[in-house]
Parts: sequence; structure tokens; C-alpha cells
Amino acid sequence: MTGEDGVLVGGMANVGAVLRRGELVERPAPSNARALHAYLLALKGQGFDGAPTPVGLTADGREQLSFVPGDVPLLPYPDWAMTTTALESVGSLLRRLHDASSGVAVDAQARWPRDFADPEGGTMLCHNDVCMENVVFRDGRAAALIDFDLAAPGRPLWDVAMTARYWVPMVDPTSAAGYYPTGLVAPARLRILADSYGLSPLDRAELPSVIEQATEVCRTFVAGRVADGDPAYLQALDERGGWARWDRLQTWLSDQRETFKAALLN
Ligand SMILES: Nc1ncnc2c1ncn2[C@@H]1O[C@H](COP(=O)(O)OP(=O)(O)O)[C@@H](O)[C@H]1O
Ligand SMILES: [Mg+2]
Repeated sequence: MTGEDGVLVGGMANVGAVLRRGELVERPAPSNARALHAYLLALKGQGFDGAPTPVGLTADGREQLSFVPGDVPLLPYPDWAMTTTALESVGSLLRRLHDASSGVAVDAQARWPRDFADPEGGTMLCHNDVCMENVVFRDGRAAALIDFDLAAPGRPLWDVAMTARYWVPMVDPTSAAGYYPTGLVAPARLRILADSYGLSPLDRAELPSVIEQATEVCRTFVAGRVADGDPAYLQALDERGGWARWDRLQTWLSDQRETFKAALLN
């Protein structure tokens, strides 16, 4: 994040196109921007203060949102973003989002993106992309979620799984090296995330396999972007070790499934 007006860095989908202008952020409006803005306002109405406030849409297809002050973890992810306190704060922020979201009726007319959506569907809107670059921190704690472009109806458990992928992270140690600080113990951190979210025993038993399912969905998404020749995704795939990295990661997840289950339930 920059403290001044100009291009904001962090994401991949809208690289170079997210601008700060004073108290406002301007970015390409997603096709469902009207429904999304209505949703963000409804979240506010539920008392949730952890999302940007929608301000408007411009004639040239951009959206304006409030700028959320704070720090966003960017690569290589800093130690302050990976503390236990940070992880707990992400879990409780996600729970607060879900508690508010469950009180907002999903606009069934809107076209919610399928990219990261729960294949099993759901009655509540999930964020679906709580990656490192989409969380704003203040005083070492997650204060707000940004970038609701991939929000779609789903099970709350799906959003927990997606969030775990990044914040535990649910990534094998070889793949995590160089991107995340060393020494992050995945089973213990998964447990911390589940505890801070307040995940039910039933959902805990399912979480490891839903993480595997979410990883598959993310791989399919990347494959689509790569097939379209998207330069940001092509470069990231190349730099991070190609499809072999995804193979290794998915093997690690299935090999460790019972370890994760035990850490969540015992
Ligand atoms: N409303 C906001 N308040 C503060 N920072 C923001 C806001 N929106 C975006 N940013 C910053 O800009 C970066 C890129 O924005 P984002 O909307 O996530 O783009 P992308 O769609 O490419 O992921 C974020 O990682 C964050 O650092
Ligand atoms: Mg983003």
C-alpha cells in the first residue's frame, strides 16, 4: 500500500488499475457492481465496519470505494502478518463478516461470479478471496476485508477453507519457502483459525477436504487465466514453479488430511 495518491499495489486481477485519490479508491467496476455495492451497504446496515463503503460508479466503468487506512501484507509476506494474533484476528473478522452477511438477502437476479464460488452453492454471500493482499491491518490486527470482486453465494465453511489456504497457509513447506516466513506449523495454525472463527465440530471434520476442493477450484481458475494468456498469471505460474507446484501442494494436502483433522478436533 502507498500512503499517497497513485496506483495501489497488491492484487493480480487489476494490476495497475487500482488508484487511490484521497479518501477514495477507484478501480475497474465488476459487472455486478450495482448488486455488490448494495450488498456492501447492507453489511454496513448490519453493523459490519470491516469493508470499504461503496461511493459510486463512473461513466467510464469504474467504481469508487472508500480508502481503508492501514497496512496490507504484500510479498514476501512480513512476519507481522503471520503472528498468532494476526491469524486470530483474521478468523474473528471472517466470522463477523459471516454473521453480518447471513442477515443480508442474496440478490438472486445478480450474476455472482463462479470463479471462486462454492460448487455446492449456499444461501449467504461469501467473500471467497480472503488472500493476504485483500486484508487491511491496523495495530497488527485484521481490520477490514477489501476486494469483494469474487463474492458469491456459498457455505460459510467454503470461505473458511479459502481463507485457510492463504493465512495458515495450507501450502507445503517447499512451496511456502521464500513467500512466507519460515516455521509456520500448518496443523496448529489451522486449529487457531478454526478456534478464532468459532467453527462447529461438524465443519471441522469437513474442513480439510473442503480445503482440497477449494485448492482444485483455485487451480482451475489459474488454468483458465493462463489459457487466456493473462500476463500476470503466466508470470506468477512461471516464477512459482509451474504446475509441478500445484501437484506437490495437492499431494501434500491429501497426505496430511488426517493430521489436519486431528489438529482441528482433538
Ligand atoms: N478500499 C481500499 N482501501 C485500501 N486499500 C485498498 C483498497 N482497495 C484496494 N486497496 C489496495 O490496492 C491493492 C489492489 O486492490 P484490489 O482491489 O485488491 O485489486 P485486485 O483486484 O487486482 O486484487 C490491494 O491489495 C490493497 O493494497
Ligand atoms: Mg485484491
